[in-house]
Amino acid sequence: MEKDILILAIESSCDETAAAVVKNGREVLSNVISSQISLHALYGGVVPEIASRKHIEKINQVIEEALRVAGVSLFQMDAIAVTYGPGLVGALLVGVSAAKAISFATGIPLIGVHHIEGHISANYIENKELEPPFICLVASGGHSHLVEVRGYGEYTIIGRTRDDAAGEAFDKVARAIGLGYPGGPKIDSLSREGNPKAIHFPRAKVVGSEYDFSFSGLKSSVLNYLNGCRMRGEEPVAADVAASFQKAVIDVLTEHSLHAVRELGYDKFAIAGGVASNSSLRDTFEKRCAQEKIRFYHPSPILCTDNAAMIGAAGYYEYIGGVRSGLDLNAVPNLRLGER
Ligand code: KG4
Ligand code: ZN
Repeated sequence: MEKDILILAIESSCDETAAAVVKNGREVLSNVISSQISLHALYGGVVPEIASRKHIEKINQVIEEALRVAGVSLFQMDAIAVTYGPGLVGALLVGVSAAKAISFATGIPLIGVHHIEGHISANYIENKELEPPFICLVASGGHSHLVEVRGYGEYTIIGRTRDDAAGEAFDKVARAIGLGYPGGPKIDSLSREGNPKAIHFPRAKVVGSEYDFSFSGLKSSVLNYLNGCRMRGEEPVAADVAASFQKAVIDVLTEHSLHAVRELGYDKFAIAGGVASNSSLRDTFEKRCAQEKIRFYHPSPILCTDNAAMIGAAGYYEYIGGVRSGLDLNAVPNLRLGER
């Protein structure tokens, strides 16, 4: 039997300080997440300076906790995987510096991981049979990408947002309805009480780029609708606005994604990123993929939003592919997928 590979993974690209221990890329021994959401909610969004400071306070505790829960010692680790981009530079630097310090002190190899590669790899954890190639929709607060996963560590971005990311649109619309931050989960639950057909919001297509997305027109349309109501002295029905907006986002994400899956001849499709935890999005893809005989994969909600287990899964495949980072590894806020 081959030796087990244990990865200590660290994630600090935005507002979660997270560490995990992952065995052989697919078995999570611990997944510790210290969320700063309640802190940033006071300001209606993530404040980068506060995020960096909080990461510094929490990072060592979170790493120690991940090792303790997994019941392993640092010296049993085969590699330390850390998100080095994309993300907030000050936030990324905390995780990268911690990982470099541990690697330097112990001699354990260091592996820099792309945050989006982590989101995609979250699918490997609970779907043991999933192997590339497949198409993955990554929809988070900072990204909306359609990715061809050609192999482990081999990616081609075939579609991207031209303006707002899907999660960003959720957050901005939620703020306009008065729901607060983060908007995604709040719109998700309020939508259950609303009528998704009550208001027709636009479904944008990007001319000449059929797999690309655009959400800023939709967001403006919701804001105009709310202003129109208020100018007429009417109170908008928040649940109907939420449900109609959410339906418009989901329609665009499903149509573009399944169009790509069909046209490029794939039979497997996965979703990832914070927006992938949306209950209606998951139900819609579940139904549509069953109708179209496409195998559909998605992580549990806790593995959709930022976490370190997904970085451990991605780090494992980089490790067995021979990737190692030097102690000169730096945070790269606009790191592109597939680049080193
Ligand atoms: O992947 P993630 O945790 O962080 C980034 O890498 O950006 O995604 C966070 C985003 C936020 O915009 C949040 O509002 C959205 O994911 N989100 C959701 C849901 N849960 C989180 N959007 C829609 N429905 C949800 N249930
Ligand atoms: Zn993320």
